[in-house]
Amino acid sequence: MKAVVVYESLWGNTAAIARAIAEGIGPEARALSTAEATATAIADANLIVAGAPVLAFSLPSEKMRENLRANPGRAPSAPDLSHPSMRSWLDALPQGHGRSAAFETRIWWSPGGATAAIGRGLERAGYDPVAKAHRFMVKGAYGPLRDGELERARLWGAELAKAMA
Ligand SMILES: Cc1cc2nc3c(=O)[nH]c(=O)nc-3n(C[C@H](O)[C@H](O)[C@H](O)COP(=O)(O)O)c2cc1C
Repeated sequence: MKAVVVYESLWGNTAAIARAIAEGIGPEARALSTAEATATAIADANLIVAGAPVLAFSLPSEKMRENLRANPGRAPSAPDLSHPSMRSWLDALPQGHGRSAAFETRIWWSPGGATAAIGRGLERAGYDPVAKAHRFMVKGAYGPLRDGELERARLWGAELAKAMA
């Protein structure tokens, strides 16, 4: 099975979760940023797991990313905007044939979120869901992850691998 875990991550929390999910899936899985997950890198993937942070109740928009670039506010470090948004990555995702799963990182258990839009984009490209979307929680607006979340991500990765077997 070829599995890729693709992420957008401005402060590293979603990237860390993506790496833990890939570990849980197994040695055949790779965690890739939206910049690394080129059409060639994901060609023939049987499973695409995709995740992003929730910003302002939704999948980060280009406007939100631009605002953060212009006005980083109280952020402990500048946001990593070196890779494209998950939105634009999904818009450019070539048609494929496989299964998918979506995840998000966030601080509050509030309505809205990123996974519905991620799931829609993956399905539109021909990747039907293999599991319910997952949320992973951080402690503050910029992280760090809550205790136990990396382990939960590894376990979810292992469940995804089992569901694909
Ligand atoms: C400007 C800003 C807006 C945010 N909006 C939300 C939100 O609406 N809901 C939520 O649950 N978390 C929100 N968060 C928390 C982020 O989703 C959380 O820190 C996420 O893990 C960041 O992921 P990253 O480190 O991969 O970029 C927000 C954080 C920032 C900095």
